[in-house]
Amino acid sequence: MKVVLTAILFLVLQGCASHNLTVYEQLGGRSKVTEIVDNFITQIEYDEVMFAYFEDSNITRFKEKMVEHICVITGGGCTYSGDSMERVHTGMNIPERDFNHAVDLLIAAMNDAQVPHRLQNKVLATMAPSRSEIIYR
Ligand code: HEM
Repeated sequence: MKVVLTAILFLVLQGCASHNLTVYEQLGGRSKVTEIVDNFITQIEYDEVMFAYFEDSNITRFKEKMVEHICVITGGGCTYSGDSMERVHTGMNIPERDFNHAVDLLIAAMNDAQVPHRLQNKVLATMAPSRSEIIYR
């Protein structure tokens, strides 16, 4: 009985704790975000569809701006120094299919970084608003 109560108390406290933390903090901050972005870049390198978009890109810059961007949208309080989502992606004429594919690669990147699925969903939710700025219309 004591064990059960302790377990319940632990779960409740854990729930409260994560409730007060930003998604960025729940992820584990800069090192985990950097790991996710590194994994994402590896996914892109091995993916024919995505790699085509990045052929002429400066990957060092992409990595830096992507880490900043994720930090900002997950509540990490960073300053984003890159271009707006609309400015960067307009002209690439990205169809919805390729956007969804990029999200799949990001999920794979988070799986490789051992991010729990519930937390992955929170990260994806922070990106949902920029969907319409990235997809070609
Ligand atoms: C999940 C949504 C996405 C987010 C949050 C995102 C975010 C970003 C960020 C922060 C940058 C760097 C901006 C800068 O250099 O100033 C970037 C660049 C880029 N993104 Fe996205 N992106 C997303 C989806 C996509 C998709 C679906 C594609 C292609 C299918 C794509 C292709 C690119 C390319 C090629 C660059 C590099 C542009 C360049 O070299 O100038 N992105 N993205």
